[in-house]
Amino acid sequence: MDDNICTCSLVATAILLSAIIFYRKSLVRISTYGRRSRRELPLGTLGWPFLGETLDFISCAYSDRPESFMDKRRLLYGKVFKSHIFGSPTIVSTDAEVSRIILQSDAKTFVPSYPKSLTELMGKSSILLISGNLQRRIHGLIGAFCKSPYLKSQITLDMQKYVQESMKGWREDRPIYIQDEAKNIAFQVLVKALISLDPGLEMEFLKKQFQEFIAGLMSLPINVPGSRLYRSLQARKKMVKLIQRIIQAKRSSNLINNSFPKDVAEVLLSDASQQLTDDLISDNIIDLMIPGEDSVPILITLAIKYLSDCPTALQQLTEENLRLKRLKEKLDEPLCWSDYLSLPFTQNVITETLRMGNIIIGVMRKAINDVEIKGHFIPKGWCVFTYFRSVHLDADVYDSPYQFNPWRWQDRDTCSCSFTPFGGGQRLCPGLDLARLEASIFFHYFVTQFRWVAEDDCIINFPTVRMKNKMPVWVKKRRNVLLSA
Ligand code: HEM
Repeated sequence: MDDNICTCSLVATAILLSAIIFYRKSLVRISTYGRRSRRELPLGTLGWPFLGETLDFISCAYSDRPESFMDKRRLLYGKVFKSHIFGSPTIVSTDAEVSRIILQSDAKTFVPSYPKSLTELMGKSSILLISGNLQRRIHGLIGAFCKSPYLKSQITLDMQKYVQESMKGWREDRPIYIQDEAKNIAFQVLVKALISLDPGLEMEFLKKQFQEFIAGLMSLPINVPGSRLYRSLQARKKMVKLIQRIIQAKRSSNLINNSFPKDVAEVLLSDASQQLTDDLISDNIIDLMIPGEDSVPILITLAIKYLSDCPTALQQLTEENLRLKRLKEKLDEPLCWSDYLSLPFTQNVITETLRMGNIIIGVMRKAINDVEIKGHFIPKGWCVFTYFRSVHLDADVYDSPYQFNPWRWQDRDTCSCSFTPFGGGQRLCPGLDLARLEASIFFHYFVTQFRWVAEDDCIINFPTVRMKNKMPVWVKKRRNVLLSA
């Protein structure tokens, strides 16, 4: 026992000593640099050796005001400050204009930077990790396909089908968990768009492996049999095997290059540059499943939460959708993707949900050269965290920022550096229209077919945004969909 204590304290002392040495070295490096260049780092503190300010960041992140970590420092040091989080000295930007410049910079200045467990799981060729020409090439191919009317029509048909199938099974005598329903639907829709897989045994297998895989995204970077990261990597291997089998079948079917690509895999396979290997394609297909399982369903779930708490917004959304439904029935026409995207109030509800919900709180980059932005010096090797959440909830930018107010978007532009739920610049999310489309279709069928009462639930913000109890609602089928004009 005593031996154990002794060994433990020796190890602890050794860790502490090396931490202090490392910390002092990094201070020396920084100050040496400072003398040489005369440029000063933004104000702020680096916190404890090794840990930096990570614990404070995480404890705020678990609260219902995650931005309080930033708010405290903004008051002390200004909108751009230095800190030390997740193992790296970091410049945090809560300044919309500075963040815009960072997002628009190319790979000569900033490259993506994520925690180690994430990079191990994502695969070397993931679009989220690569930079330069190859990233631009893949981004261009995926972006063009996501914008194509072909994909939007396909997604509309699939989403309508899966939403209706799912809602057909809803009963009035037990709660419906919106978060689970939305995840199930959005995953199937996205997998169909990625590799043309229909619901069935392979889809179930993929879903199971994907859930195992995604559980490790925010785990400790320890890859030994039995660890969370190890199990996630094993699940990823199984997914890669299935996807590569599908890719091989597509390659040998001779359809590639002879017909219009009907899914993302075919878009990447038909690229003439020959740079896109099967490994690269399968890595990216897996990463593209993440929004299907996470971001889009959370967007849907949060909107239902905000609407449940704001009856006037719910009423206006319902009326707008019932009007569209009646019009289409009268014209005897099916709803198409442009009908959904042109509903102004529904789009304002989605915009306001993105602003308040902050599904992606910000993005991280690493400076690969010394940079100065609006007088703020960022040294080579440091991380930069553009924290969107503080901007989206800034009272100087948005009146009563914690109030769900879709009407604020009636005469306000969404193309501004103060509204960046989908990032910006070279890595602007290529799926932004699809996310809006899927959410609009879900709301249309939900509000035109059901009334509901939501159970109490609250939003958890860390490590990812979600509802604590998966957003249970008690539904009642609408009997009368007639509407006063
Ligand atoms: C509410 C839903 C969504 C949100 C909030 C969201 C947010 C974001 C953000 C903030 C980025 C920028 C990351 C960075 O700069 O490092 C991003 C990138 C990306 N998103 Fe989305 N996204 C959503 C839905 C989707 C969907 C449906 C797709 C798939 C079609 C998608 C595919 C991508 C891809 C491929 C990138 C990487 C782009 C690149 O690095 O070149 N996203 N997304």
